[in-house]
Amino acid sequence: PIIKAWRSAILHCIANPTDVAHEQAFQYFEDGLLVVEDGHISALGDAQTLLPSLSPDIDVEHHSNALIIPGFIDTHIHYPQSDMIASYGVQLLDWLNTYTFPEERKFADKDYASQVAKRFLEELLRNGTTTALVFGTVHKASVEAFFEAAEAQDLRMICGKVMMDRHAPDYLTDTPESSYQDSKALIENWHEKGRLHYAVTPRFAPTSSSEQLAQAGKLLSEFDNLYLHTHLSENLKECEWVQALFPDSSHYLDVYDQHQLLSERSVFAHGIHLCDQEYQRLSETGSAIAFCPTSNLFLGSGLFNLEKAELHKVNVGMGTDVGGGTSFSMFSTLNEAYKVIQMQGQNLDPMKSFYLATLGGAKALRLEDRVGNLAVGTEADFVILDKAATPLLNTRLARSSSIQDTLFALMILADDRAIKATYAMGQCVHRRD
Ligand code: GUN
Ligand code: FE
Repeated sequence: PIIKAWRSAILHCIANPTDVAHEQAFQYFEDGLLVVEDGHISALGDAQTLLPSLSPDIDVEHHSNALIIPGFIDTHIHYPQSDMIASYGVQLLDWLNTYTFPEERKFADKDYASQVAKRFLEELLRNGTTTALVFGTVHKASVEAFFEAAEAQDLRMICGKVMMDRHAPDYLTDTPESSYQDSKALIENWHEKGRLHYAVTPRFAPTSSSEQLAQAGKLLSEFDNLYLHTHLSENLKECEWVQALFPDSSHYLDVYDQHQLLSERSVFAHGIHLCDQEYQRLSETGSAIAFCPTSNLFLGSGLFNLEKAELHKVNVGMGTDVGGGTSFSMFSTLNEAYKVIQMQGQNLDPMKSFYLATLGGAKALRLEDRVGNLAVGTEADFVILDKAATPLLNTRLARSSSIQDTLFALMILADDRAIKATYAMGQCVHRRD
């Protein structure tokens, strides 16, 4: 076997800090050792304790003033929107028509899609994100391009073709039948191939007919372990539109529910304007919400109520929602999340933030046995953070008195410069210098 070890401060979550005492929610090794054998973590603990049992010919990489953490998990992002990030001036529905649809049109060209997919993955890895739930476009080839790029680096990634048969330009719509056939072909070729998974991806209720949503439900019933990935209750005008389009539904989520789209592998982006029944249905079905603070602020959508989601025991992960979101960085995303929660008179403590961006995201995606922390037996996807990446970070962290304080300063002050290296299955997939 190929064995390699990393020596550094190491931090990971082992439980949800909302459920257990904080000290039981994470493990922190000030002088830790992470041992990786054939891509999987084979040991984790104090370096002093583990080193004597390690064969002397094993290569140990030592990092000082660093912190090793699990790779971040992004539970909602659009790879085709990478280059239209920071588009000025409007809220969701105008933003889609003005900027998004013309951009997504370009992905009919597979070569173009491949080029963006490669850059997108590079950008994710540069920011320490190793697993993501990703929107493609309506074009089948856009998802092929994405999966090929992810497979080349052996990344654990989830993607799907957008299903969209109305209320969008002709150049960007499919039909219930073609969306079923294209999705099915992608599932047969890519789902559970290596580390890849397929997500059935109706864009959102307004752009799918009831017939198309039924086809999405059919796919979910025909294959095992498929994800369902869509948007839910992001913007008030969108919510009004959904009520008008689906007058027989008792609320927005009910549109998806009536088409059998709610399950343990369903992830709904945003979920800002929800009623109690919607929280309850999400909870009962084991569905998850992707909390996308940079997008919700940028598009003026609203403030996600984390306390309510937790009260109803709804699974929550963090999403960047690029290009509605404004950063690929999970640090920036947590920074904005903190402020969104502050604005509602609630608090987002640093351990919970860290949990949401790692193990919590993995749990939302039902991948917690594989990624999300550094437990023995899981896949070696991790990040080496440089605590001296910038002068401000360096001086601020030097006066930190606890790991909680260090984490908080990181989520407020750090960016891609703090990501010294990123690993997937024990292989280096990004190095800063
Ligand atoms: N709702 C439907 N499509 C989209 C999209 O591309 N981005 C966001 N943020 N919301 C959506
Ligand atoms: Fe989105």
